[in-house]
Amino acid sequence: MNKDNRQYLGPSLKDARKRLNKTVTKITFQTTEQLVGLGNNKKYLIKTYGCQGNLADSEKMAGILELLGFTPTEKEEWADVIIINTCAVRENAENRVFGEIGRLKSLKRHHPDLLLVLCGCMPQEERVVQMVMDKYPQVDIVFGTHNLHQLGEYLSTAYLTKEKVVEVFSKEGDIVEDVPTKRAHNKKAWVNIMYGCDEFCTYCIVPYTRGKERSRLPEDIFNEVKELIKEGYQEITLLGQNVNAYGHDFLNRQYRFADLLNDLNQMPIARVRFTTSHPRDLDDATMAVMAKRGNIMPHLHLPVQSGSNLVLKRMNRKYTKEEYLEKIAKLRALVPGIAITTDIIVGFPGETDDDFNETLDLVRKAHFEGAYTFIFSPRSGTPASSYEDELDPKIKKQRLLTLNALINDGFLKGNQRFEGQVVQVLVEGFSAKNAKQLTGYTEHNKLINFEGPETLIGQIIPIKVEKAYTWHLQGKIV
Ligand code: SAH
Ligand code: SF4
Ligand code: F3S
Repeated sequence: MNKDNRQYLGPSLKDARKRLNKTVTKITFQTTEQLVGLGNNKKYLIKTYGCQGNLADSEKMAGILELLGFTPTEKEEWADVIIINTCAVRENAENRVFGEIGRLKSLKRHHPDLLLVLCGCMPQEERVVQMVMDKYPQVDIVFGTHNLHQLGEYLSTAYLTKEKVVEVFSKEGDIVEDVPTKRAHNKKAWVNIMYGCDEFCTYCIVPYTRGKERSRLPEDIFNEVKELIKEGYQEITLLGQNVNAYGHDFLNRQYRFADLLNDLNQMPIARVRFTTSHPRDLDDATMAVMAKRGNIMPHLHLPVQSGSNLVLKRMNRKYTKEEYLEKIAKLRALVPGIAITTDIIVGFPGETDDDFNETLDLVRKAHFEGAYTFIFSPRSGTPASSYEDELDPKIKKQRLLTLNALINDGFLKGNQRFEGQVVQVLVEGFSAKNAKQLTGYTEHNKLINFEGPETLIGQIIPIKVEKAYTWHLQGKIV
């Protein structure tokens, strides 16, 4: 119970599973006059875990904080507010966050006015909120994924009452427009096109932490993109847990992902990317638009998760290995040279040697040019967490290593095919590892380093690929 006797609105994974409402409420962000100035002479620091969705959310929180007068700092010791934007997708992501909160406790001893904020996906689990209430008194504010636009109000309440503020909603979710955004880059931007997920893959917590699938109106997306173009942005990445389901929730218009992509294809922005795609929902209409190329980049991240049809079925992925391979073959015919990357889980409950070999076989046939690979992590509240799992953890680790060796080989081959070619690169800045080298991404989303002057940052320029390594290309200005 909240100490200031406000009703404690705790989360419930069970409630979060429900999908009842047909209409999505659109809220326009507003902040009261009183809150402006709350952050004068105060500094903030945001630590972000998890997916691009969280990176985009952190940019919105930064926007709200700066509207209230806060300024950013990189140093924990200088911060008056530290926000931890969390991910719940695997256990190790959660453990790292708990370690972080533990470590930050000592900071509060030297800086008693420091506010520690926990938000994002972890607080959507009742288990986590309970643990924070019981064991982590240093956390001042806890909220989830449905109410980050109220950050200003929560900070104000915490300053006024000096009490813990906990407010997490387990609901299907709204769409909040016009949240001020402080973007991390000035040439590349995230653009949310939809929120939530209705897929309910049996291993995954995201549909519970993010609510139901709900699409932003195309006109709101276009307005954001027009604004970005005006500000000189060169690249947008459309975000959603399953972008191919965009528009499925519109009740009174027929406007789908292919339509959105087609309309963005006509807009004067140099590069359009999108993530994440679901293999079942990636349709012919979308592939036809991708075939037009123009500003649509020749890279697709298409998580396959497993190559075993039995495992795919237990994962509730709703496609087979053969259907997946057929789809990417079709795509490659339409977009020659497209780079395809993926996500794979090993050690799903009941995965046999044969199942795993099916995954290796699929990886060989799919010619992936990169993948995020994971060992299955049971998330309590999801169906797969109660599936019988007798596999020795050592075997899971071995499978991950075997898979990674194959994936890295594909990564290298995917890079090698560009040796000797001239590629277009959006220059991002100096390499973190070598201050003499500039770094950027090619159209196929390959990281490339090369020597050049600072003035090139933010431009798209041709670079000759001299040598390919597993994780990057080395090039030269032409
Ligand atoms: N919506 C996206 C990404 C979701 S999370 C998609 O459908 O692809 C990113 C990746 O984390 C997933 O693709 C999956 O490979 C992995 N993942 C999700 N839940 C997991 C779990 N319980 N254990 C291990 N990996 C998981
Ligand atoms: Fe999770 Fe599946 Fe939704 Fe991706 S599509 S977020 S893996 S439930
Ligand atoms: Fe993690 Fe939430 Fe994204 S669980 S992967 S931060 S949607």
